[in-house]
Amino acid sequence: MKRILVTGGTGYIGSHTIIELYKNGYEIDVIDNLFNSKITVLDKIEEISGKRPSFYEIDLLDYEKMDKLFSDNHYDLVMHFAGLKAVGESVEKPLKYYENNVGGTVNLLKCMKDHDVHKIIFSSSATVYGEQEKAKLDESMITGIGITNPYGETKHVIEEILKDVSESDKEFEAVILRYFNPVGNHPSGLMGEDPNGIPNNLMPIIMKVARGEIKELSVFGDDYNTPDGTCLRDYIHVVDLAKGHVAAINKMKPGVLIYNLGTGKGVSVLEMIKAFEEASGKKLPYKIAERRAGDLPEMYADPTKAERELGWKTELTVEDAMRDTICYLNNL
Ligand code: NAD
Ligand code: UFG
Repeated sequence: MKRILVTGGTGYIGSHTIIELYKNGYEIDVIDNLFNSKITVLDKIEEISGKRPSFYEIDLLDYEKMDKLFSDNHYDLVMHFAGLKAVGESVEKPLKYYENNVGGTVNLLKCMKDHDVHKIIFSSSATVYGEQEKAKLDESMITGIGITNPYGETKHVIEEILKDVSESDKEFEAVILRYFNPVGNHPSGLMGEDPNGIPNNLMPIIMKVARGEIKELSVFGDDYNTPDGTCLRDYIHVVDLAKGHVAAINKMKPGVLIYNLGTGKGVSVLEMIKAFEEASGKKLPYKIAERRAGDLPEMYADPTKAERELGWKTELTVEDAMRDTICYLNNL
């Protein structure tokens, strides 16, 4: 297998995955509508890997352009990162999220079927686990119950669509990767998370506070039943996450495979602040604020299935992620 179409390839996780794919000899085409990324990411990819993907500015919702792309090119595999991911916005604008994430994926799958492309790796999320009895989440758990926002619902629905397509087409091969909380960036500091607009997630907010663009970080609740009272999450270095995708390619077979990509360890919000302060040598201004609606106190991956079946596990730490983030910030 040689040629991969990466949707959302100028985005945060897609761009880091392309670096790892190039290391492993793949050829890459990217489509992105540049809604949440910049075309200059392609220059960074080229600077780091010496190779530049062919780029098509296409919206997944534009069926005609998508169909033409698949008519003009043959792909052995699609890596599907493109999607909207702002949890809060998805509550305000649910139809935008269903249309873009679910509608876009349906278009993609139709093009794949019409042009005999049978393999897809999909960016799902730990959010599909919804509310569970246990904080340690494994792939055997029933998903889709107690998801608190439309963004999470779109991930669950897409997982179900992939399973249905697999039932109808015995040649179809899908890998669903459930990411936990991606952080950090390429160690060169050339490329990182650079969302358009106001970020929602902890790390990009910490970065904006460090740069003085946001006055202080609000820690959402310190009265949870956790060791320091703040929520625990499984923060995975984006380079480890990217390597998980390469490992998945080699194990694809007809049917749907599902893997958690996480470290297996919960880290609190206060521990994240401390790690950032230690790496930067500076205080990070923060205040304790109200709990954020929908936040679960504690969630982390059981990563053993990915280790057993893909031979993949995380190698980098939160400290590595903080060091790389600071390197990126210094380059901005
Ligand atoms: P990102 O926003 O940086 O990248 C997504 C890219 O998709 C962007 O470049 C955006 O412009 C593009 N895009 C969106 N809709 C499109 C459309 N209709 N047509 C073409 N391009 C489109 O996000 P990311 O953090 O790199 O996330 C990648 C994937 O991983 C997403 O599907 C996201 O839901 C999923 N995910 C992310 C996280 C996280 O915390 N970052 C966690 C779990 C899952
Ligand atoms: N947090 C703060 N202050 C902030 C932002 C976040 O204290 O300003 C806290 C949150 O309360 C939470 C932790 O930092 O405890 C992480 O919050 P994020 O918003 O970064 O991440 P979530 O775990 O809430 O959600 C993320 C993605 C979802 C994904 C989920 C599981 O945003 O898309 O991980 O993969 F579904």
